[in-house]
Amino acid sequence: MADNSNRASFSTPLSVVLIGCGRVAEKHLKAISKLKNLELKAVVDVNPESCKRLLGSVKGFANVKSYSDYKQAIDEIKPAIVSVTVPSGLHFQIAKYAMEHGSNLLLEKPMTMSVSEAREIYELSQKTGLKIAMGHIYRYLPIVGLVRQDIAEGKYGKVTHGTIYVRWGHGEDYYQSAAWRGTWKSDGGALMNQTIHAIDLLVWLMGSEPEEASAMIAQRLRNIEAEDLGMAVLRLENGALAQIEGTTATIPSKHTAEFSVFCENGQLSMGLDSGKPHISVYGVKTDGKTKKMNGYYIRKQFKEGGLFSYKCALNPHLGIYKDLAESIIEDKNPIADAYAGFSSVDTLLGIYKSAKEGRPVKLPLEENFNSIDMTGFFDEKTC
Ligand SMILES: NC(=O)c1ccc[n+]([C@@H]2O[C@H](COP(=O)([O-])OP(=O)(O)OC[C@H]3O[C@@H](n4cnc5c(N)ncnc54)[C@H](O)[C@@H]3O)[C@@H](O)[C@H]2O)c1
Repeated sequence: MADNSNRASFSTPLSVVLIGCGRVAEKHLKAISKLKNLELKAVVDVNPESCKRLLGSVKGFANVKSYSDYKQAIDEIKPAIVSVTVPSGLHFQIAKYAMEHGSNLLLEKPMTMSVSEAREIYELSQKTGLKIAMGHIYRYLPIVGLVRQDIAEGKYGKVTHGTIYVRWGHGEDYYQSAAWRGTWKSDGGALMNQTIHAIDLLVWLMGSEPEEASAMIAQRLRNIEAEDLGMAVLRLENGALAQIEGTTATIPSKHTAEFSVFCENGQLSMGLDSGKPHISVYGVKTDGKTKKMNGYYIRKQFKEGGLFSYKCALNPHLGIYKDLAESIIEDKNPIADAYAGFSSVDTLLGIYKSAKEGRPVKLPLEENFNSIDMTGFFDEKTC
């Protein structure tokens, strides 16, 4: 069990240190600024200008301390929560150090770049009782949790299959904005970066763990080391199939992500289209007629989560931080917990392994696989 005694109480806010002051960090700061039970104590970046820019971008943080060394910040502040928003290849070392020094984590996705590292972080959280909330934003969109609960309780009957597409176009400017982007070592490609949290959502909604992955990846437009297009099929333990498309080789001004789950007596589609959320849920009644369920879920969500739950559609990190704070105080599991972090890394690396070996692979992976094991994959291919 974690000793959160000097770090979490009902009366004092939980202290937060955020490490990595880049693109996603502003969403974290905006979320922290809206929650009374959190207090940002420091930000850390190897580039002091990035700390300054970030603190200036959100109201109320002008006097927060800046560090360039994450170990020093953790050692001095001993925060209740460390938010890890550095390039993905650095997640493991910082997450491990923070947990070994008693901090809970808001850990951006992907948890790590290798299966063995993800397992180590997951096991560390089990051993210490420290909470990890993953940056799996889609689990925190309104209505998603309610629909999932109904699927899990059998309201829509047997789950047959599910699909996702994540068409998150990024141009060369995005990839050139930081040297780590699109590299096997520190980022991976469109599946590892832009799609892993969508895969996590699909599998979570379908209520079963992946047992086999078959995949192909390609480089179509972007000049990067990893893939800008990936397609995969997963077989889940309950026999359902999940189809995945993830790409950054689409028009950058048209970001779309769509999730569909099909069941014996119902089907749902939800997603984001250029930032706008949409949902459609249909159920089949006992008289055989089809009923649109949107209104039912919208009302139910409002009753249970009030306006706050709808604010999470605009910034899901708000929901992640609230959930993490409550999980620490009430000693419960966050919605996107350490297991979700581990399992999604295992699935994603299974997808890469399948693409590399040109055959289906069994999940969970029996041996370690690391994103850098994909190095050179496209050198031998004609794309
Ligand atoms: N959940 C989401 O929706 C979401 C969205 C975007 C990014 N992300 C994830 O967030 C992470 C960061 O992505 P980004 O786009 O903000 O990257 P970024 O390159 O814009 O920012 C990363 C920052 O980390 C800093 N940094 C690098 N090494 C460091 C170190 N040792 N100590 C302290 N700071 C260090 C860099 O200087 C940079 O400012 C990635 O893992 C990415 O996958 C998640």
